[in-house]
Order: sequence, then structure tokens, then C-alpha cells
Amino acid sequence: MIKAVKGMNDLYGKDAYRWGRMEEDIKMIVQTANYTEFRTPIVEEIALFKRGVGETTDVVQKEMYDFLDKKGRHIAMRPEGTASVVRAFIEHGISVNEPSPFKLFYIGPFFRYEKPQKGRYRQFHQLGIEIFGDDTPQMDAEMIFTACRVLDHFKIDYEVHINSIGCNECRPVYKEKLIEYFSSKKDKLCEDCCKRIKTNPLRLLDCKSCNMKMEYQKVPVMIDHLCGVCSDHFEKLKKSLRIFHVDPVIDPYIVRGLDYYTRTAFEIVADTGGSQNAVAGGGRYDNLVSDIGGPDTPATGFAMGLERLFDMVPEDFYQTPMVFAGYVLCEEAVDDLVHFAKHMSHHPVTFFADYRPKKIKKALQKADKAQISFVFIFGENEAKNKTVLMKNMTTGEQKTYGQHEVMLIVRELMDASAEFYSKK
Ligand code: HAM
Repeated sequence: MIKAVKGMNDLYGKDAYRWGRMEEDIKMIVQTANYTEFRTPIVEEIALFKRGVGETTDVVQKEMYDFLDKKGRHIAMRPEGTASVVRAFIEHGISVNEPSPFKLFYIGPFFRYEKPQKGRYRQFHQLGIEIFGDDTPQMDAEMIFTACRVLDHFKIDYEVHINSIGCNECRPVYKEKLIEYFSSKKDKLCEDCCKRIKTNPLRLLDCKSCNMKMEYQKVPVMIDHLCGVCSDHFEKLKKSLRIFHVDPVIDPYIVRGLDYYTRTAFEIVADTGGSQNAVAGGGRYDNLVSDIGGPDTPATGFAMGLERLFDMVPEDFYQTPMVFAGYVLCEEAVDDLVHFAKHMSHHPVTFFADYRPKKIKKALQKADKAQISFVFIFGENEAKNKTVLMKNMTTGEQKTYGQHEVMLIVRELMDASAEFYSKK
């Protein structure tokens, strides 16, 4: 049997319905906050991610799905959205053609070759937002607040962890301090971290296997080594977050797994039901646009893992809609049901038609299993008299209507729906 590729999931039935509703709600929230949708291709030249995300990151070194196309171009399936959006921002001259700040969002699939587990997949989905052209700490705060608005909408408990990882002025000095600190502790570090001491020393701080937080209480932290401008930015970020009623945890171990960040770095953690508790992460990346060949443009943004969010949306957050169904008991009634389905299609009711004749008992069993609230039966008598029998599956109440009385029927169904939704 051919199975789905490891770490990649199908979605159907009730889950697909809930996922669709969740995406609609997210879009409504971010559009209200004035973010417009941005779509980029699933694949990009691999060089973009190497340059954008960073050669030494796990994402680029270990997790990329890449291949050569038929002309030998080296292509990668996008592991994240920021680099692609930056590429498009430059390619379309958005800094001159669109108002600034330019605020956008995206929702879609991303691909990382990671070890699958609950909350970690090889194809996963993100909501991302990015803001170009604004270097203020207030915009960082608004960006983080937007992530909170999404989580608040779904009534999720979470914690916002923030840090500053400095800029090109202060970070190199701090990196030297880290290298000095860790060089004497090589025997205690994991194999990856021994290599990272020189290439990416900040990542040692969030290595799960070395567990810095527990082991190294005295490790130098970036917030003690910020330059004046970065320090001021961080203070104003905290102040603005408080105005937005976001109470952040200052967490000097948030360094992020992607190389492009400057100053603000943050993660939102929540009880996702698995060991992967980061539901969103992001920060400021003021050098990325120019690093990829565009004009000097400050930028900030985040991405939220939608599988992790989905697992936390309360079970009763969405009601499944009321569904109505028509069944035929004999061949002569089939065309009547076709006509009825056609008429019902003009109205805002969810109607399902089963054109395969069957015994009434079987039809009702099927309706019961599919949780249909009202069924419409077309049998021999109905075909002769051009009527339809409507049965309320909850109360058992039955009524006969003329087949042309669709307006009356729809009104009854709408009244029943209104009552159903008001009770929930
Ligand atoms: P990231 O931290 O790599 O950041 O991913 C953001 C979120 O995507 C994570 O917090 C997590 O919820 C989800 N996620 C990541 N990998 C997986 C996976 N394998 N399976 C399931 N969920 C996953 C970024 O991607 C940056 N582009 C965020 C950003 C936007 N920074 C600035 N702008």
C-alpha cells in the first residue's frame, strides 16, 4: 500500500472543516490589523535560503528539501516564509511602489526535514506576518501583539518570551565573550555545539541537549552587552508591550534558529499537548533586505505554527453546521430530487442529495450516521403527488410539502438553524 510521505499529513472531514474556519478567523484578525495577503511560490532557488536563513543554520544544513530541476537548477521547497517574501519585496520594487510601512501576511505550507513527532512535521503550515520599512520598537510591539490577538481569539493561554540579540555593533563583541566562555567547556557540549562555538555561538544558548539554562547560570547574556541604541530599543519595546497589555517574560536564551535577526527576538510558548511548545516566533531583521541585494530596509515579523495552534483550539470552539439531506426510495423519484437539489442550491442552507434509491430504513440510518438534522424523502407516493416528506431527525416530527414549496421549506430550515445556533 502506498502511504503518505513520512511527516506529512492528510486533512479531511470535521478536522478539515475546523481548519478552514480557523484560517478564516486568522485572516479576519490580521486583515483587520491592516495586513494584506502575500503569496509566494512553494519553491525558490536554494541560494535564497542559504543567503537569507544562513549557511550555518540547521534549517539550511540539515532540513532542506532540495532537488535539481530538469535544467539542473538547484531548487528548494521553502522551509520558512521570510526569505521568500524578502526576495519578492526586492524583485517587485515594493519599497518604491507601495506605501511604507508595507504590512503583509501569508498562510501556507512549509517543509523541513526534521524528525517528526507531535507538533513537528515535515510539511507544516504557518501564518506569517512581515512589516517592511519601520524600525521602531513600537512596531515590534504591535507585531508581537498581533500574534497575541490571534491566540486570544482562540482563548489560548500562552507566555510571550522576549530578548534582544543586538546589532552588528554590539553582537560581535558579545559573540567573542561567548566563544571565550564555551571554549573551556567543550567536554560538556554536544557534538553540534562544539562545531557551533566558532560558526554560530549564539545557538549554544538554546541547544536542547546541552540545556544551557540549567547548566550554565553564569553564561554571559546579550541583554547585558547591548549598545546604547539597542538597549534603548529594548526598553521601548517592553514599554509598548505593556501598553498593549502584553506582559513579556525577559528570556536571554531566546536566540532563534534562523540567522537574520537583529535586536528583537521573541517566542510564544503554550501548552500544545506535546514537547514542541513554541507556537510562534519571530523578531526584527533589519539587515536581511540589504543582505539579499535590496535597499536598506528595516523589517520585523513572526510566524505561527498552525498545527500547534489547531491542537489548542478548544473542541467546542466551532459547531459543525446543520446539514439537510434528500433521499430517494425509488427510481421514479430520482428526477424530483435532482430538481429539489437544484432549487436548494439557491439558498444558504447546506443540502446534500443521495440519488441512489434505497429503503426508508436504510436512508434514515445513513442520515443518522451523517448527523443530518432534517431529511427529505422522495418515495413512490411523493413522486405521484409531487410532494416531499420532511422529517426532523431530532424530534421525529414529519410534514409533507409540495415540491414547489421550497421557500416555505427553506424558511423552516433557517428558523431551525437559528434556534440550533442560539442554543450552542
Ligand atoms: P520559526 O521559529 O522557524 O520561524 O517557525 C515559526 C513557528 O512555526 C514555530 O514557532 C512553530 O510553531 C512552527 N514550526 C516550525 N517548524 C515546524 C515543524 N517542523 N512542524 C510544525 N510546526 C513548525 C520562522 O519560520 C520565521 N520565518 C518567523 C519569522 C517571520 N521571523 C520574522 N518573520
